[in-house]
Amino acid sequence: MKILGIETSCDETAASIVKDGWQVLSQVVATSLKDHQKYGGIIPEIASRRQMELIQVVVPEALKKSGASLAGIDCVAVTQSPGLIGSLLVGVAYARALSFALAKPLIEVDHIEAHLYANFLDRKPAARFFPAVGLVVSGGHTSLYYVKNFTDYKILGQTRDDAAGEAFDKVARILELGYPGGPIIDRLARRGKNSEIRFSCAELADSFEFSFSGIKTAVLHYKQRHEKLPTFSVQKIAYAFQDSLVAVLVKKSIAACLKKKVKTLLIGGGVAANSALRERLPRAAARHDIKVFFPPPPFCLDNAAMIAGLGYHLSQKSSRSKLG
Ligand code: KG4
Ligand code: ZN
Repeated sequence: MKILGIETSCDETAASIVKDGWQVLSQVVATSLKDHQKYGGIIPEIASRRQMELIQVVVPEALKKSGASLAGIDCVAVTQSPGLIGSLLVGVAYARALSFALAKPLIEVDHIEAHLYANFLDRKPAARFFPAVGLVVSGGHTSLYYVKNFTDYKILGQTRDDAAGEAFDKVARILELGYPGGPIIDRLARRGKNSEIRFSCAELADSFEFSFSGIKTAVLHYKQRHEKLPTFSVQKIAYAFQDSLVAVLVKKSIAACLKKKVKTLLIGGGVAANSALRERLPRAAARHDIKVFFPPPPFCLDNAAMIAGLGYHLSQKSSRSKLG
């Protein structure tokens, strides 16, 4: 079964053809990032205007690369929420029109759940992964889930304020490093290992909630106090910030696995590309015999293959329930 996935929740416009929920036949991602960079963050109005132009390019391109024709598509899957309302509308309206014209079913997919599903792309999905705990760390979300199967996600906790990626982006802005901040801080932190600077990240003990706004403010105050001193080092600050934030992500996601007595931890979202998280989480989890899965880096960031992949399982579920 071939599904056309469409993702337009933020600044990426993506289309992908996925077979049977896991074989990625094509994946095309265009982004309006450059149009936003001078503002230091995403401007929703610009994003939705660019979505309208780019969607007309990425869908035909994804079809062409996969070798499939529109008539060969069995179903259209689209990100329904969460995201920027204007951007989401473009994808949903385009997908609805296509589904109507082709007389093929339309599946609406949750963007956050799809980030966790990205772990099953390009490897045959197996039920042995479940039950699992899922950690989604992106620019807009930081959430822990109990994942019963491919389509059943229950939220355990989320951030009370900034998302993890948002904290990376805001700290990069404070340090005048550019946008998006995550990859830049990740790179600088590799050269900044030290034990002189420490920023504490709120732990909110005994809860699966997160809070990252305090650590961002701590970095701002540190910069204001030290930037004129010769010892001031952006690399060291980047390391100390990332070290503390990653420690909280590691601690909470393992605590959630222990509480729910599961042995599989799925990670998703842009911050899942972070090298410190990818290194430390599997090491800490192995002590409890927990296996950690990260999507390959291209599937960590916003993409449409994850939408088509999860869309496959949702389509199977709805056809089963109709038959039942
Ligand atoms: O999932 P995503 O593409 O978009 C949202 O749904 O938000 O995530 C984008 C976020 C940005 O905040 C970006 O700074 C962060 O992911 N990010 C990273 C890294 N690569 C991207 N954060 C930390 N380390 C990275 N290597
Ligand atoms: Zn995302």
